[in-house]
Amino acid sequence: MTPGRKETAVALTLLLAALTPLPVLAQDKTFTLAAPQPLVDSGLMQYILPRFSLKTQTRVTLVGTEATADARFGEAGQIAFEGLGRVWKFAVGDDPDAQRFADWLRSDVGRNTVDSYEVDGASLFTSEVKVTQAVAPITYDGDAVRGEDVSLTHCGRCHVVSDRNRMNSIGSTPSFAVLRTLRDWQDRFQTFYVLNPHPAFTQIADVTEPFAATRPSPIHAVEMTLDDLENIMAFVQGIPPADLGRPVQSMQD
Ligand code: HEC
Repeated sequence: MTPGRKETAVALTLLLAALTPLPVLAQDKTFTLAAPQPLVDSGLMQYILPRFSLKTQTRVTLVGTEATADARFGEAGQIAFEGLGRVWKFAVGDDPDAQRFADWLRSDVGRNTVDSYEVDGASLFTSEVKVTQAVAPITYDGDAVRGEDVSLTHCGRCHVVSDRNRMNSIGSTPSFAVLRTLRDWQDRFQTFYVLNPHPAFTQIADVTEPFAATRPSPIHAVEMTLDDLENIMAFVQGIPPADLGRPVQSMQD
């Protein structure tokens, strides 16, 4: 069947459903459904709703997203399917007919119906939603070996960076291994140049303003690039967090 004929057939089904008070439909088996415009425009609703109605003798009335509806596709509820570049969820109230539709959506028949919807021979939606892990480990593409060198050069004056400078840093300054234990170590390292005491002596090429003429760096300045920082991130990522026994109070927010 060509898409054109399929569309015509679907349109006709809808028209019939809208015009003919099908005697088989019990009066009370009906609910309202809200769906965002892109979903309506995709044609999926026009494809699945008549099929659900036919199976269950339930009439579904599509209403605009603003209206109060018995059920709605959108951001909230259970994951229904994926398509048009996003995951669509389905939220349902206590209307039993709307709940039947929710059950149908989750059933094999419902899922197959969603999966079988095609436009020009290509399926647009899949009920097989791959839920990406909420906390994907962040990985930095930088070069960790260079990152250690850059850290030793620029940060090792004050911080213990690794075993290579354990003996010659400033004792009161937290070591990288200690900073690595912080829940938000990524944020802190990525923005270290705006966190005290660094702004006074740190310049990141194309990022920070030059030191004011009246306030030159009090010490030999740290001058580096964002690439250097990316390498530092890759290095710090691989540092085993120090075993502190208990959190470092002063570093917690
Ligand atoms: C001149 C000394 C000095 C240098 C050089 C230095 N730091 Fe620091 N850094 C400190 C001190 C002191 C602290 C502790 C500040 C505090 O406890 O408030 C600190 C804290 C930090 C923190 C935690 C900041 C916060 O507020 O959570 C990070 C991250 C950090 N440094 C990264 C770096 C990196 C990366 C470099 C090198 C590119 C570097 N530092 C170079 C002295 C230095």
